[in-house]
Amino acid sequence: MVQELLLIPGPTNLSQRVLNALNQPQVSHMSPEFYEAFEECLKLIKYVYRSEKGHPYLLSGSGSLAMEAAIVSLIEPKDKVLVLDTGHFGFRFSTIAEAHDADVHLETFEFGKHANIGRVKELLEKDSFKAVCITHVETSSTIVNPIKELAQLARKYGALSIIDSICGLGGIELNFDEEGYDLVLSCSQKCLAAPPGLAILCLTDKALEVMQNRKVPIRSYYANLLKWKKVMDEPSYYLATPAVNLILALREALLEIKEEGIEKRWERHKLIGESFRAGLESMGVEFVAEENYRADTVTGFYTRDEKAQEIQAMMRKRFRIHIAKGLYENKNKIIRIGHFGNLWSRDIASTLSALEITLKAFGRDIKLGEANRVAQPYLEKLSLMEPPLPI
Ligand SMILES: Cc1ncc(COP(=O)(O)O)c(C=O)c1O
Repeated sequence: MVQELLLIPGPTNLSQRVLNALNQPQVSHMSPEFYEAFEECLKLIKYVYRSEKGHPYLLSGSGSLAMEAAIVSLIEPKDKVLVLDTGHFGFRFSTIAEAHDADVHLETFEFGKHANIGRVKELLEKDSFKAVCITHVETSSTIVNPIKELAQLARKYGALSIIDSICGLGGIELNFDEEGYDLVLSCSQKCLAAPPGLAILCLTDKALEVMQNRKVPIRSYYANLLKWKKVMDEPSYYLATPAVNLILALREALLEIKEEGIEKRWERHKLIGESFRAGLESMGVEFVAEENYRADTVTGFYTRDEKAQEIQAMMRKRFRIHIAKGLYENKNKIIRIGHFGNLWSRDIASTLSALEITLKAFGRDIKLGEANRVAQPYLEKLSLMEPPLPI
């Protein structure tokens, strides 16, 4: 099987070291070897969150489990929740909160625009909310929200901040202890470059206290963060069988991040984002996300004549590069390029070339080679900061 280059917004390309961890004899979930790996993952999760004081969680399930666990554990029926909807994943928060009988105020921002601080302040002044749900990188519209400012605003008005950093953590700067979040959730298959299937969270003491002091007990077994706290404190406590093999693979992915250094990784992703934006701009595309709020981990642009499906197919068939289409009603209108994790300057250069050829075939007036020429300064810097091969 010829390996394709994955440039979708998760899952992403796995390193050989992570693949090797998956290709091992089965380990017992009740063995000292597994407990040790689990504990190491929790320590490394704190490293990735830049947190000494936070409570890390590792659950078996996709990112949506982390969203549901956060909501069902913190929010009681009839609690008022402000959901900032900057795209499909922001909206998902409201679906989950409504399923758990929260009193949801859904604030929808124009697609491609960030959550406006002034508007959020107005809403917080008018009403009192238990929590504000905020998406860091809205993968459907490719915008990045100013989470630090939004979380601080929520705190000022006495609301908890619940942040979905599924497409941010490990790729975009986030300092959990310093920046004032109450709960930040993520998952394994994006910037952490591990296989899909693991939900990751970090909580403050305050968030834990809120759960402990609820009037109505948490109405869930598997998504109950109070129950899971016992496992995080003592991995030998059995609540449900964890995804052992995925956790062993995650450990390797997190160790690779530690070896690279989280600050360096943020810097590397910034350069990756800049290379793609510069290259695509030279092709004259219309970006989905507004200027200054384009994420460093995913880039989206509108296709002409709703040709996303065909463009994606040509990129796969001819160049073995797998890019993504838009979601739901934007399926054929938008191309999304997920760019995080194990992605190197050579991959970006070849993707920009392939995109030029493909978009030209779809009628754009493109000067071949221009994208790499404009991306060159970023690519050069990137190549110097990529982890060297042991030659
Ligand atoms: C920002 C964001 N939130 C939530 C999710 C849902 O995660 P999962 O598909 O792992 O359940 C995704 C998935 O792409 C996402 O990008």
